[in-house]
Amino acid sequence: MSALAHTPGRVEPSAHGGARANKYHPALVLLHWLLAWFIIASLLFGFFVLRVVPNTDPHKIDMLEWHMGLGMAILAAMLVRLVVRWRTARPAPAGLGTPASARAAGRAHLAFYVLVACMVASGYATALLAHLNDIVFARSGAPLPPTFDAYPTFHLHGWIAALLAVLVTLHVLGASWHWLVRRDGVMRRMGWGGRRVE
Ligand code: HEM
Repeated sequence: MSALAHTPGRVEPSAHGGARANKYHPALVLLHWLLAWFIIASLLFGFFVLRVVPNTDPHKIDMLEWHMGLGMAILAAMLVRLVVRWRTARPAPAGLGTPASARAAGRAHLAFYVLVACMVASGYATALLAHLNDIVFARSGAPLPPTFDAYPTFHLHGWIAALLAVLVTLHVLGASWHWLVRRDGVMRRMGWGGRRVE
């Protein structure tokens, strides 16, 4: 992709002949920032709170209720975002200024959807194996298992979370580079106002 593609306000033509926009649809922008905070909050809460608070702690059930509820809300928002993304014109992937890096940026964005789906699937599988639906949501009064270590899905959940944290870090670094070093208007595509579709 040429550097011109990132000129603020310019509408890059679509390679598939479909409509292109200079900015993302306002609903996509809203969902992007909501999901960004929800996902980062879930990662921080998981690694720095859930991981260290023992299952015998009387507050652990409430913590798990928040975590599992937010995780499922993230999946729902991600699915809505996917549908809006399919149905609205959007800018060309930005990358680092070359066609190969633009393709890589497109794939990294797809990886977000895949990793979040895997996070929720592995979290939900752990919840089913540990009967958390009864213990946490139905408040059956039964105790939590001493740890979740016995469930392979729990270890998978931790590994996918680590991968997701790496991807989030790269995404933030890439966006900051566009914003602060290249100053090419890519950050403004994820803001409100001045949207044009061609
Ligand atoms: C995008 C969504 C999610 C993110 C980013 C996330 C992140 C995390 C992280 C970072 C941990 C700590 C992992 C570790 O200790 O190695 C964790 C633990 C856990 N998560 Fe999730 N999670 C998500 C969704 C879910 C969902 C939907 C459920 C269940 C329905 C769930 C259930 C659990 C459980 C049961 C634990 C174990 C808590 C503990 O360590 O004591 N998670 N999660």
